[in-house]
Amino acid sequence: MTLEIVILAAGQGTRMQSSLPKVLHAVGGKPLLEHVIQTAQELNPSAVHVVIGYGGQQVQDALPQYDIHWVVQAQQLGTGHAVMQALPAIADDSVVLVLYGDVPLTRLSTLRQLVARAQEGPALLTATLRNPHGYGRILRDQTGALTGVVEEKDASAEQRQLQEINTGLLAAPARDLKAYLPRVDNQNQQGEYYLPDILRLAVANGKTVASCTAESELEILGVNDRVQLNQVEREYQRRQAEMLMRQGVGIADAARLDIRGSLTCGKDVFIDINAVFEGEVILGNGVSVGANCVLSDVNVADGSVIHAMSHVQGAVIGKDCSVGPYARLRPGTVLADGARIGNFVETKKANIGADSKVNHLSYIGDCDMGADVNIGAGTITCNYDGINKHKTEIGKGVFVGSNSTLVAPLRIEEQGFVAAGSTVTSTVGKDELAVSRARQRNIKGWNRPDKRGSRD
Ligand code: UD1
Ligand code: MG
Repeated sequence: MTLEIVILAAGQGTRMQSSLPKVLHAVGGKPLLEHVIQTAQELNPSAVHVVIGYGGQQVQDALPQYDIHWVVQAQQLGTGHAVMQALPAIADDSVVLVLYGDVPLTRLSTLRQLVARAQEGPALLTATLRNPHGYGRILRDQTGALTGVVEEKDASAEQRQLQEINTGLLAAPARDLKAYLPRVDNQNQQGEYYLPDILRLAVANGKTVASCTAESELEILGVNDRVQLNQVEREYQRRQAEMLMRQGVGIADAARLDIRGSLTCGKDVFIDINAVFEGEVILGNGVSVGANCVLSDVNVADGSVIHAMSHVQGAVIGKDCSVGPYARLRPGTVLADGARIGNFVETKKANIGADSKVNHLSYIGDCDMGADVNIGAGTITCNYDGINKHKTEIGKGVFVGSNSTLVAPLRIEEQGFVAAGSTVTSTVGKDELAVSRARQRNIKGWNRPDKRGSRD
């Protein structure tokens, strides 16, 4: 039987107190709904239907890269009504898995089990909670067979004592949904069409309803407010850290690591506390990332070290490089093997040659630099004239003395030498020394000022 997945995502999420539709709030840098869509895809369904309502267009626009059948539920009349909207597009001989767009941490193994149990009739994912408040409770007969779900608001005092709850996730043959959903009414406290009501109807029709239990409470945690969003975020990050550690990555504190995208690591990588990884980050063998670093879309080759407090964005870092502490590498920075970028150095669109050093307090932007260059402290490439950006080319083996101002467009050829404190505006030829600073005068016998008014 083929599998079709329906993801419910039409609710507003009032308790988020946000203008953003709830399912677009991010966990690990990705919308909640995207997590659910990706989980759904892992199950190889023949179709994924997402039921949208509140902010529907915004939700669709946020996830253009997925092959989704979007279903609009104009009015949110309940979970049963929501699934009904998707039914016309669902093949009769499929099994349907219903997921929630705001429940992103469910494990694949759990969902596979649920689908496996739903080949002949509905199957429900339940959990037993110490505090079942707010959830629909599972009703069973004396033999333990599941007979239905009662919502908290409709439950008797006795039923509210039940601790087995409906996680909301269920699977059922499409034929069962098509048979029972149209018969579900809204005669209840909330005036809604309840999806779990199909279970009662199925049982009345002589069917057995299967159930599976979620491994942990976190697996079924739904996001209704920002406290739960944070719980989900921390659990998601904990899982990422655990997965990396199992792959051999050293992590100083799993609770102080944030991956908002994908992080791929080689062997013997070490990550110190409070590192944040965004977008796609790749760390080669033996790479070390210091405390409080932010790396966004960065590729770091084997043996390089990113020292503490560095912000690295859109950069490619070669082998055995050293960056920071306190470095800022902006997009378009490429470090060849063995390059060194030190503290309080900013780079942008800069190719730094092999074994070249920019160790202190410099700005290197729109620059092509050869190998074995030394850039002294306080060097600035003046790349911007107020209108256009210009390039600085620095040949191999060049030495730039401290506090030099390199006014682009500019070329300093191989082995050129710039004396400290120079403002360089024209080409420095191969092996030449450029000095452009006021000559030093020493004045003998001058009078040092004494303290004014000292005799008053
Ligand atoms: C539902 C279940 C309850 C279960 C709980 C688990 C029903 C009637 N109740 O309750 O048994 O314990 O989930 O969290 O199913 N949605 C739509 N369209 C609608 C209504 C809801 O798309 O018309 C979506 C929401 O966006 C949300 C999900 O369905 O993602 C669940 O809706 P929600 O209102 O949170 O259901 P609960 O009342 O929590
Ligand atoms: Mg809910």
